[in-house]
Amino acid sequence: MRIFFTGGSGKAGRHVATHLAEQGHQVTNADLVPLRHPAVADLRVDLTDAGETYSALAGLARFDELELAAKPSYDAVVHFAAVPAILLTSEAKTYAINVLSTYNVLEAATRLGVRKIVFASSETTYGVCFAQGERRPLYVPVDEEHPTVPEDSYAMAKVANEVTARSFQIRSGADIYGLRINNVIEPHEYAEMFPPFLDDPALRRRNLFAYIDTRDLGQMVQRCLEVDGLGYEVFNVANADMSVAATTDEVRERFYDGVELRRPMGRDETFYSIDKARGLLGYVPQHSWRDVLPDPRASS
Ligand SMILES: NC(=O)c1ccc[n+]([C@@H]2O[C@H](COP(=O)([O-])OP(=O)(O)OC[C@H]3O[C@@H](n4cnc5c(N)ncnc54)[C@H](O)[C@@H]3O)[C@@H](O)[C@H]2O)c1
Repeated sequence: MRIFFTGGSGKAGRHVATHLAEQGHQVTNADLVPLRHPAVADLRVDLTDAGETYSALAGLARFDELELAAKPSYDAVVHFAAVPAILLTSEAKTYAINVLSTYNVLEAATRLGVRKIVFASSETTYGVCFAQGERRPLYVPVDEEHPTVPEDSYAMAKVANEVTARSFQIRSGADIYGLRINNVIEPHEYAEMFPPFLDDPALRRRNLFAYIDTRDLGQMVQRCLEVDGLGYEVFNVANADMSVAATTDEVRERFYDGVELRRPMGRDETFYSIDKARGLLGYVPQHSWRDVLPDPRASS
């Protein structure tokens, strides 16, 4: 596929964009800064500018496309560009950049006839991550039916983007899939970041104790590109296990007293349900922090 990938220079995007290129796709990275990877074409674009966004999506991806009789169109858009959290700039600017850039990408892509769009939403839509004080989910495991009423501008923008995407899907008939991505972890970060999480699960409360390995995120985007015909859908994206060594029973006892348990859960199973992605997309996460670090509970 000829893919227009936004935010491919970022933490998540650089892994996913290069993964898609390794699968044989032709990937153009539209970002404020270049990725400088030999398998990915860079295009500097400010996606908050509608004209730039249209022009980039309508244009050439690489010099060798000049040799074709006609310029090809993009088969898919993967939209990851964003201010990726609160507290990086003002709340107002976070909201403005993330809502406007997503509107521009969705409008341009659907107007230009792109039939598959995958965009980054977030676990923060469920309101737990950036809540003032402690907020618990209404039930566990948290699935895509859980209410999305967050308190912060970043997650408000993600909820607004999901509503916008749903409207563009109705308007265009394209497949538009939103990914409620959990906390993104690069392979080298297990050794750096996880030892404290294994000692103290409280450090992961705001992430519902979950995480997503960049390689499994790549697989998830790939599955979204491969599975057609779902219309508008949102999917939680996480690994199969928790990012802590405590068991699900221990975590529930300490953090989720009184929170409804919707179904029996496995010993280490994530509270961030990936059942929908497994069922509709055939997503099967392959990685775990346990591949890198010894599980302190393994012998108990
Ligand atoms: N990192 C996480 O844990 C996490 C979790 C859930 C969801 N997400 C979402 O996943 C996506 C990728 O996150 P990330 O961690 O890789 O973020 P990142 O900040 O590392 O990368 C985002 C990229 O978007 C680019 N960008 C920002 N504004 C732009 C604009 N106006 N025009 C063009 N490019 C622009 C940046 O230059 C950057 O390269 C984001 O949408 C983020 O909200 C991330």
